[in-house]
Amino acid sequence: MPTMLEVQNLVKEFKRRDGDIVKAVQGVSFDIHEGEIFSLLGPNGAGKTTTISMISGLISPTEGDASIGGHSITKEPLKAKALLGVIPQEIALYPTLTARQNLEFFGRMYDITGQELVKRVDEVLEFIDLVDRQNDRVETFSGGMKRRVNIGVGLLHRPQLVYMDEPTVGVDPQSRRRILDTVLRLRDEYQMAVLYTTHLMEESQELSDRVGIIDHGKLIAVGSVGELTQQVGEEDRLVLNVGEQIVGEELLGRLKSEINGISNVSYANLAVDGAAAQGEINILATRGRKALPDVITLLNDVWIDVSSIEVREPDLEAVFLNLTGHALRD
Ligand SMILES: Nc1ncnc2c1ncn2[C@@H]1O[C@H](COP(=O)(O)OP(=O)(O)O)[C@@H](O)[C@H]1O
Ligand SMILES: [Mg+2]
Repeated sequence: MPTMLEVQNLVKEFKRRDGDIVKAVQGVSFDIHEGEIFSLLGPNGAGKTTTISMISGLISPTEGDASIGGHSITKEPLKAKALLGVIPQEIALYPTLTARQNLEFFGRMYDITGQELVKRVDEVLEFIDLVDRQNDRVETFSGGMKRRVNIGVGLLHRPQLVYMDEPTVGVDPQSRRRILDTVLRLRDEYQMAVLYTTHLMEESQELSDRVGIIDHGKLIAVGSVGELTQQVGEEDRLVLNVGEQIVGEELLGRLKSEINGISNVSYANLAVDGAAAQGEINILATRGRKALPDVITLLNDVWIDVSSIEVREPDLEAVFLNLTGHALRD
Protein backbone atom coordinates (compact mmCIF):
# COMPACT_ATOMS: atom_id res chain seq x y z
CA MET A 1 0.00 0.00 0.00
CA PRO A 2 1.38 3.43 -0.91
CA THR A 3 2.07 5.76 1.99
CA MET A 4 -0.38 8.61 2.51
CA LEU A 5 1.20 10.20 5.56
CA GLU A 6 4.77 9.89 6.69
CA VAL A 7 5.62 11.36 10.09
CA GLN A 8 9.32 11.67 10.79
CA ASN A 9 10.64 12.38 14.23
CA LEU A 10 8.23 15.17 15.14
CA VAL A 11 9.21 17.12 18.23
CA LYS A 12 7.31 19.96 19.85
CA GLU A 13 8.54 21.95 22.78
CA PHE A 14 6.45 24.72 24.25
CA LYS A 15 8.04 27.46 26.27
CA ARG A 16 5.89 28.40 29.20
CA ARG A 17 5.67 31.93 30.58
CA ASP A 18 7.86 31.02 33.54
CA GLY A 19 10.52 29.90 31.07
CA ASP A 20 10.04 26.16 31.64
CA ILE A 21 10.07 23.95 28.56
CA VAL A 22 7.17 21.53 28.05
CA LYS A 23 8.21 18.59 25.87
CA ALA A 24 4.76 17.85 24.49
CA VAL A 25 5.93 15.60 21.63
CA GLN A 26 9.30 13.91 21.76
CA GLY A 27 10.27 12.35 18.46
CA VAL A 28 7.15 10.74 17.04
CA SER A 29 7.37 8.75 13.77
CA PHE A 30 4.74 6.67 12.01
CA ASP A 31 3.19 6.09 8.59
CA ILE A 32 -0.37 5.85 7.41
CA HIS A 33 -1.10 3.96 4.21
CA GLU A 34 -3.74 4.82 1.64
CA GLY A 35 -7.20 3.80 2.75
CA GLU A 36 -6.12 2.94 6.25
CA ILE A 37 -7.61 3.97 9.58
CA PHE A 38 -4.83 4.76 12.01
CA SER A 39 -5.61 5.76 15.55
CA LEU A 40 -3.40 7.52 18.02
CA LEU A 41 -4.40 6.14 21.40
CA GLY A 42 -3.24 7.78 24.58
CA PRO A 43 -4.41 9.39 27.82
CA ASN A 44 -5.12 13.09 28.23
CA GLY A 45 -1.97 15.12 27.87
CA ALA A 46 -0.14 12.38 25.93
CA GLY A 47 0.53 14.68 22.96
CA LYS A 48 -2.17 13.63 20.49
CA THR A 49 -3.51 17.09 19.67
CA THR A 50 -0.03 18.58 19.48
CA THR A 51 1.05 15.86 17.03
CA ILE A 52 -2.02 16.36 14.85
CA SER A 53 -1.66 20.14 14.98
CA MET A 54 1.84 19.83 13.54
CA ILE A 55 0.66 17.48 10.80
CA SER A 56 -2.12 19.85 9.81
CA GLY A 57 0.15 22.88 9.85
CA LEU A 58 -1.57 24.67 12.74
CA ILE A 59 1.68 24.80 14.67
CA SER A 60 5.21 24.33 13.40
CA PRO A 61 7.37 21.48 14.65
CA THR A 62 10.39 22.20 16.83
CA GLU A 63 12.06 19.36 14.96
CA GLY A 64 11.13 16.79 12.35
CA ASP A 65 8.71 16.83 9.45
CA ALA A 66 5.70 15.07 8.02
CA SER A 67 4.62 14.59 4.44
CA ILE A 68 1.16 14.06 3.05
CA GLY A 69 1.08 12.31 -0.31
CA GLY A 70 4.80 13.01 -0.62
CA HIS A 71 4.50 16.75 0.11
CA SER A 72 6.33 18.08 3.14
CA ILE A 73 4.17 20.06 5.54
CA THR A 74 7.04 22.44 6.22
CA LYS A 75 8.33 22.87 2.66
CA GLU A 76 5.16 22.49 0.56
CA PRO A 77 2.38 23.29 3.03
CA LEU A 78 -0.23 24.21 0.42
CA LYS A 79 0.15 21.00 -1.55
CA ALA A 80 0.17 18.97 1.64
CA LYS A 81 -2.92 20.68 3.03
CA ALA A 82 -4.86 20.24 -0.21
CA LEU A 83 -4.87 16.49 0.48
CA LEU A 84 -5.90 16.86 4.09
CA GLY A 85 -9.44 17.05 5.42
CA VAL A 86 -9.90 18.72 8.75
CA ILE A 87 -12.82 17.88 10.95
CA PRO A 88 -12.62 20.20 13.94
CA GLN A 89 -14.11 19.37 17.30
CA GLU A 90 -16.00 22.61 17.63
CA ILE A 91 -18.94 23.27 15.39
CA ALA A 92 -18.00 26.01 12.94
CA LEU A 93 -21.15 26.72 10.93
CA TYR A 94 -23.47 29.62 10.19
CA PRO A 95 -26.61 28.97 12.25
CA THR A 96 -28.95 31.08 10.11
CA LEU A 97 -27.90 29.41 6.85
CA THR A 98 -29.30 26.06 5.77
CA ALA A 99 -27.18 22.91 5.67
CA ARG A 100 -26.87 23.26 1.90
CA GLN A 101 -25.94 26.96 2.10
CA ASN A 102 -23.28 26.22 4.69
CA LEU A 103 -21.75 23.54 2.48
CA GLU A 104 -21.87 25.84 -0.56
CA PHE A 105 -20.25 28.64 1.40
CA PHE A 106 -17.38 26.47 2.59
CA GLY A 107 -17.07 24.87 -0.85
CA ARG A 108 -16.45 28.30 -2.40
CA MET A 109 -13.72 28.85 0.18
CA TYR A 110 -12.00 25.82 -1.31
CA ASP A 111 -12.46 27.42 -4.78
CA ILE A 112 -15.08 24.89 -5.82
CA THR A 113 -17.73 26.59 -7.97
CA GLY A 114 -20.55 26.07 -10.48
CA GLN A 115 -21.78 22.60 -11.38
CA GLU A 116 -18.86 21.01 -9.58
CA LEU A 117 -19.97 22.66 -6.34
CA VAL A 118 -23.56 21.45 -6.79
CA LYS A 119 -22.33 17.93 -7.42
CA ARG A 120 -20.01 17.82 -4.43
CA VAL A 121 -22.58 19.31 -2.07
CA ASP A 122 -25.11 16.68 -3.23
CA GLU A 123 -22.54 13.96 -2.68
CA VAL A 124 -21.64 15.21 0.80
CA LEU A 125 -25.30 15.63 1.84
CA GLU A 126 -25.87 12.04 0.85
CA PHE A 127 -22.84 10.91 2.79
CA ILE A 128 -23.86 12.70 5.99
CA ASP A 129 -27.44 11.58 5.52
CA LEU A 130 -28.97 15.04 5.53
CA VAL A 131 -30.53 15.18 2.04
CA ASP A 132 -34.00 15.53 3.62
CA ARG A 133 -32.99 18.40 5.86
CA GLN A 134 -30.66 20.22 3.47
CA ASN A 135 -32.93 23.27 3.20
CA ASP A 136 -33.44 23.70 6.93
CA ARG A 137 -31.46 26.21 8.92
CA VAL A 138 -28.62 24.72 10.89
CA GLU A 139 -29.87 26.46 14.07
CA THR A 140 -32.84 24.06 14.08
CA PHE A 141 -30.54 21.01 14.07
CA SER A 142 -29.59 18.75 16.97
CA GLY A 143 -25.98 18.66 18.12
CA GLY A 144 -25.41 15.41 16.26
CA MET A 145 -26.78 16.82 13.01
CA LYS A 146 -24.62 19.93 13.28
CA ARG A 147 -21.64 17.70 13.79
CA ARG A 148 -22.52 15.83 10.61
CA VAL A 149 -22.65 19.08 8.63
CA ASN A 150 -19.27 19.89 10.13
CA ILE A 151 -17.94 16.55 8.92
CA GLY A 152 -19.40 17.31 5.48
CA VAL A 153 -17.51 20.60 5.30
CA GLY A 154 -14.25 18.75 5.87
CA LEU A 155 -14.96 16.41 2.94
CA LEU A 156 -15.95 18.89 0.21
CA HIS A 157 -12.51 19.13 -1.33
CA ARG A 158 -12.24 15.32 -1.46
CA PRO A 159 -9.23 14.93 0.78
CA GLN A 160 -7.23 11.72 0.73
CA LEU A 161 -6.40 11.91 4.39
CA VAL A 162 -8.90 13.00 7.02
CA TYR A 163 -8.07 13.69 10.61
CA MET A 164 -10.40 13.70 13.56
CA ASP A 165 -9.19 14.70 17.00
CA GLU A 166 -11.28 12.97 19.70
CA PRO A 167 -14.51 13.56 17.79
CA THR A 168 -16.69 11.65 20.25
CA VAL A 169 -15.82 13.63 23.36
CA GLY A 170 -19.01 14.93 24.96
CA VAL A 171 -21.46 13.48 22.45
CA ASP A 172 -24.41 11.23 23.18
CA PRO A 173 -24.11 7.49 22.43
CA GLN A 174 -26.19 7.68 19.25
CA SER A 175 -24.11 10.47 17.72
CA ARG A 176 -21.00 8.65 18.81
CA ARG A 177 -22.10 5.54 16.93
CA ARG A 178 -22.74 7.65 13.83
CA ILE A 179 -19.30 9.22 14.02
CA LEU A 180 -17.64 5.82 14.30
CA ASP A 181 -19.68 4.57 11.34
CA THR A 182 -18.68 7.66 9.37
CA VAL A 183 -15.02 6.89 9.97
CA LEU A 184 -15.49 3.35 8.68
CA ARG A 185 -17.40 4.60 5.63
CA LEU A 186 -14.68 7.14 4.77
CA ARG A 187 -12.35 4.22 4.43
CA ASP A 188 -14.69 1.68 2.91
CA GLU A 189 -16.64 3.85 0.47
CA TYR A 190 -14.10 6.59 -0.32
CA GLN A 191 -10.83 4.75 0.30
CA MET A 192 -9.70 7.68 2.42
CA ALA A 193 -7.00 7.35 5.02
CA VAL A 194 -8.08 8.45 8.48
CA LEU A 195 -6.00 9.67 11.39
CA TYR A 196 -8.15 9.35 14.48
CA THR A 197 -7.21 10.22 18.03
CA THR A 198 -8.84 8.93 21.16
CA HIS A 199 -8.22 8.09 24.78
CA LEU A 200 -10.82 5.31 24.58
CA MET A 201 -9.38 1.92 23.84
CA GLU A 202 -12.76 0.55 22.73
CA GLU A 203 -12.86 3.06 19.87
CA SER A 204 -9.31 2.41 18.89
CA GLN A 205 -9.90 -1.30 18.97
CA GLU A 206 -13.02 -1.15 16.83
CA LEU A 207 -11.83 1.28 14.17
CA SER A 208 -8.17 0.82 13.64
CA ASP A 209 -6.29 -0.99 10.94
CA ARG A 210 -3.27 0.07 12.96
CA VAL A 211 -2.82 1.82 16.27
CA GLY A 212 -0.07 4.03 17.63
CA ILE A 213 0.03 4.10 21.41
CA ILE A 214 1.26 7.43 22.72
CA ASP A 215 2.21 8.38 26.25
CA HIS A 216 4.16 11.36 27.58
CA GLY A 217 4.89 12.58 24.05
CA LYS A 218 6.39 9.30 22.87
CA LEU A 219 5.00 6.65 20.59
CA ILE A 220 5.56 3.50 22.57
CA ALA A 221 4.02 0.93 20.23
CA VAL A 222 2.67 0.76 16.67
CA GLY A 223 0.86 -2.11 15.05
CA SER A 224 -2.47 -3.73 14.34
CA VAL A 225 -4.67 -4.52 17.34
CA GLY A 226 -3.75 -8.18 16.86
CA GLU A 227 -0.04 -7.50 16.75
CA LEU A 228 -0.16 -5.32 19.83
CA THR A 229 -2.27 -7.63 21.94
CA GLN A 230 0.02 -10.48 20.97
CA GLN A 231 2.83 -8.59 22.69
CA VAL A 232 1.02 -9.04 25.98
CA GLY A 233 1.02 -12.68 25.10
CA GLU A 234 -1.01 -14.82 27.37
CA GLU A 235 -1.71 -12.10 29.88
CA ASP A 236 -5.34 -11.87 30.81
CA ARG A 237 -6.74 -8.96 32.72
CA LEU A 238 -8.70 -9.63 35.87
CA VAL A 239 -11.12 -6.83 36.56
CA LEU A 240 -12.21 -6.76 40.18
CA ASN A 241 -15.33 -4.79 40.86
CA VAL A 242 -15.08 -3.27 44.31
CA GLY A 243 -18.19 -1.13 43.88
CA GLU A 244 -18.56 1.82 46.20
CA GLN A 245 -16.07 0.41 48.65
CA ILE A 246 -13.02 2.56 49.02
CA VAL A 247 -9.94 0.40 49.09
CA GLY A 248 -7.56 2.50 51.08
CA GLU A 249 -3.83 2.90 50.92
CA GLU A 250 -3.12 0.25 53.50
CA LEU A 251 -5.20 -2.48 51.83
CA LEU A 252 -3.85 -1.56 48.42
CA GLY A 253 -0.37 -1.72 49.80
CA ARG A 254 -0.95 -5.23 51.13
CA LEU A 255 -2.53 -6.30 47.86
CA LYS A 256 0.41 -4.91 45.92
CA SER A 257 3.03 -6.58 48.05
CA GLU A 258 1.32 -9.94 48.28
CA ILE A 259 0.13 -10.22 44.73
CA ASN A 260 3.69 -10.67 43.56
CA GLY A 261 3.74 -13.82 45.64
CA ILE A 262 1.32 -15.36 43.17
CA SER A 263 3.35 -16.51 40.22
CA ASN A 264 3.10 -14.51 37.01
CA VAL A 265 0.74 -11.92 38.38
CA SER A 266 1.43 -8.25 38.23
CA TYR A 267 -0.66 -5.52 39.69
CA ALA A 268 -2.03 -2.52 37.87
CA ASN A 269 -4.73 -0.20 38.90
CA LEU A 270 -7.52 1.67 37.21
CA ALA A 271 -9.60 4.49 38.56
CA VAL A 272 -7.30 5.33 41.38
CA ASP A 273 -8.13 8.51 43.18
CA GLY A 274 -5.08 9.47 45.15
CA ALA A 275 -3.87 6.50 47.11
CA ALA A 276 -7.24 4.76 47.23
CA ALA A 277 -9.03 2.66 44.64
CA GLN A 278 -12.73 2.66 43.94
CA GLY A 279 -14.76 0.99 41.24
CA GLU A 280 -12.34 -1.30 39.48
CA ILE A 281 -9.01 -2.82 40.31
CA ASN A 282 -7.12 -4.35 37.42
CA ILE A 283 -4.69 -7.19 37.69
CA LEU A 284 -2.66 -8.50 34.80
CA ALA A 285 -1.94 -12.17 35.06
CA THR A 286 -0.29 -14.66 32.78
CA ARG A 287 -3.02 -17.19 32.06
CA GLY A 288 -5.24 -15.13 34.36
CA ARG A 289 -7.97 -17.74 34.50
CA LYS A 290 -5.59 -20.09 36.24
CA ALA A 291 -4.48 -17.46 38.71
CA LEU A 292 -8.08 -16.71 39.68
CA PRO A 293 -8.37 -19.04 42.71
CA ASP A 294 -5.15 -17.66 44.18
CA VAL A 295 -6.28 -14.10 43.60
CA ILE A 296 -9.60 -14.79 45.32
CA THR A 297 -7.83 -16.29 48.32
CA LEU A 298 -5.57 -13.29 48.49
CA LEU A 299 -8.49 -10.85 48.33
CA ASN A 300 -10.05 -12.67 51.26
CA ASP A 301 -6.81 -12.54 53.18
CA VAL A 302 -6.43 -8.81 52.73
CA TRP A 303 -10.13 -8.10 53.35
CA ILE A 304 -11.01 -6.60 50.03
CA ASP A 305 -14.67 -7.04 49.24
CA VAL A 306 -15.16 -7.85 45.58
CA SER A 307 -18.66 -8.02 44.12
CA SER A 308 -17.60 -9.54 40.81
CA ILE A 309 -14.55 -10.62 38.92
CA GLU A 310 -14.32 -10.54 35.17
CA VAL A 311 -11.58 -12.15 33.13
CA ARG A 312 -10.82 -10.23 29.94
CA GLU A 313 -8.75 -11.38 27.04
CA PRO A 314 -5.79 -9.15 26.21
CA ASP A 315 -6.98 -5.84 24.77
CA LEU A 316 -5.37 -2.47 24.09
CA GLU A 317 -5.91 -1.44 27.70
CA ALA A 318 -3.82 -4.43 28.75
CA VAL A 319 -1.16 -3.48 26.20
CA PHE A 320 -1.07 0.02 27.61
CA LEU A 321 -0.87 -1.20 31.21
CA ASN A 322 1.84 -3.59 30.24
CA LEU A 323 3.97 -0.97 28.49
CA THR A 324 3.51 1.92 30.89
CA GLY A 325 2.53 0.45 34.24
CA HIS A 326 -0.39 2.84 34.41
CA ALA A 327 -3.92 2.86 33.04
CA LEU A 328 -5.20 4.86 30.08
CA ARG A 329 -7.76 6.56 32.29
CA ASP A 330 -5.40 7.49 35.13
N1 LIG B 1 0.30 25.73 23.85
C1 LIG B 1 0.81 24.99 24.84
N2 LIG B 1 1.67 25.52 25.73
C2 LIG B 1 2.20 24.77 26.71
N3 LIG B 1 1.95 23.45 26.88
C3 LIG B 1 1.12 22.86 26.02
C4 LIG B 1 0.49 23.59 24.95
N4 LIG B 1 -0.29 22.74 24.26
C5 LIG B 1 -0.17 21.53 24.87
N5 LIG B 1 0.66 21.61 25.92
C6 LIG B 1 1.06 20.51 26.82
O1 LIG B 1 1.56 19.47 26.01
C7 LIG B 1 1.16 18.20 26.50
C8 LIG B 1 0.40 17.44 25.41
O2 LIG B 1 -0.84 18.08 25.20
P1 LIG B 1 -1.87 17.60 24.08
O3 LIG B 1 -1.15 17.41 22.79
O4 LIG B 1 -3.00 18.54 24.08
O5 LIG B 1 -2.33 16.17 24.63
P2 LIG B 1 -3.61 15.27 24.25
O6 LIG B 1 -4.22 15.83 23.02
O7 LIG B 1 -3.04 13.89 24.05
O8 LIG B 1 -4.52 15.31 25.43
C9 LIG B 1 0.34 18.47 27.74
O9 LIG B 1 1.19 18.35 28.85
C10 LIG B 1 -0.11 19.89 27.56
O10 LIG B 1 -0.32 20.51 28.78
MG1 LIG C 1 -6.22 16.45 22.68
